[in-house]
Amino acid sequence: MKKIVSIFLALTAFAGMAFANGQQEAGNVTLNKDKPLIFFNRQPSDPTTGAIDMDSMSWNDKTYYVGFDAAGGGAVQGKMITDYLANADASIDRNGDGIIGYVLCIGDVGHNDSKARTEGARKALGTWDGSTDPSVHKEGSVMIGGKEYKVVELEGKAMTGTDGSTWNANAATEAMGGWATKFDDQIDMVVSNNDGMAMGCLQASNYPAGVPIFGYDANADAIEAIGNGILTGTISQNVDAQACGTLQVLRNLLDGLSGAEVYTKGFSTPDAYGNQISAPMDYITDTKALLAANSAVTSANWQDYKAGTRDAGVSQSDAPEKKVLLTIYNSADNFLSSSYLPALQYYAPLLNIDLTIVQGDGQNEASCLDKFTNFNNFDAFAINMVKTNSGRDYTDKLAY
Ligand code: BGC
Ligand code: CA
Repeated sequence: MKKIVSIFLALTAFAGMAFANGQQEAGNVTLNKDKPLIFFNRQPSDPTTGAIDMDSMSWNDKTYYVGFDAAGGGAVQGKMITDYLANADASIDRNGDGIIGYVLCIGDVGHNDSKARTEGARKALGTWDGSTDPSVHKEGSVMIGGKEYKVVELEGKAMTGTDGSTWNANAATEAMGGWATKFDDQIDMVVSNNDGMAMGCLQASNYPAGVPIFGYDANADAIEAIGNGILTGTISQNVDAQACGTLQVLRNLLDGLSGAEVYTKGFSTPDAYGNQISAPMDYITDTKALLAANSAVTSANWQDYKAGTRDAGVSQSDAPEKKVLLTIYNSADNFLSSSYLPALQYYAPLLNIDLTIVQGDGQNEASCLDKFTNFNNFDAFAINMVKTNSGRDYTDKLAY
């Protein structure tokens, strides 16, 4: 049996060589282990140290990560908050004790995006103490209308749902209700690692009206809430660039591009079909990561971020149709379901990619992994893991 398998492998390897350059011909079988593999939104990494899982990223020469600049984004969120405070007046200190008290909604202590935002907000407010333990922070200080105030993080909490799912908006509603009772007018500000949880906080019946609150993601409902003066600010991680970028890298790899063309065609230069994503994306060689930039959205510019604004640089393709299997870690994730998925569905037909999307429950890897199957029906794969250190569970399945 072993012999037959190795003869088969040798033959298919030969066929692969004969039709190198990504050209598919009848009878030429590409092994699953040689197909393009993109990780997106959840970067393969160690949940504690944040170190990138380069074993998964080096699975084959067609493995890449497409996301956004997480660390930079944390700093952009922090700056948005201090910019807001700089222009505020003394009334922001609700109980007049000279201390700005805030509460913090943490998405997922093991997720690099979440860690970066907690760090970015705390650094800007001076409450970051350098510890990898998310519950440790110190007293900070901030300038408000030219005067220095102390800053205290009254409480920071990972918003885990009763079902174990992370970034949970209902958990945030409940936590906010508890905080409003417990800390009352010590709360001068609410900071959240994402919009879903910020909007969740605003749902608490005892939310202290008028207290500034900051989210992240620029989901449509959050942008609307900024327009209505309910949410104070959010950060756009440029979902259009990311979703379209994920598909563009796949397209390039499926068209047989290699080397720098994989992350320049359709990005910094038009691809063979004339498409080019308008927003700049940075390629990080060491981690094989293509990252979109972040921008702050506030009452001053929210109109520019209204839903339905798609990238006009990407409009059509006469590329050969390719089939891609794509996983989403949690069908209930606010950002993925309300922002990322609609963007994928918009751009996939333009790039002539036929997407099969399977979704998990946000807590058990098996909820995604069990649907990550029937590989021979697909030309490439895109993965959004439940746990950031599960890359191997997916690549192991592709090894056969
Ligand atoms: C988003 C979160 C989302 C998470 C899912 C993050 O980049 O900001 O809203 O829950 O990705 O992985
Ligand atoms: Ca105060």
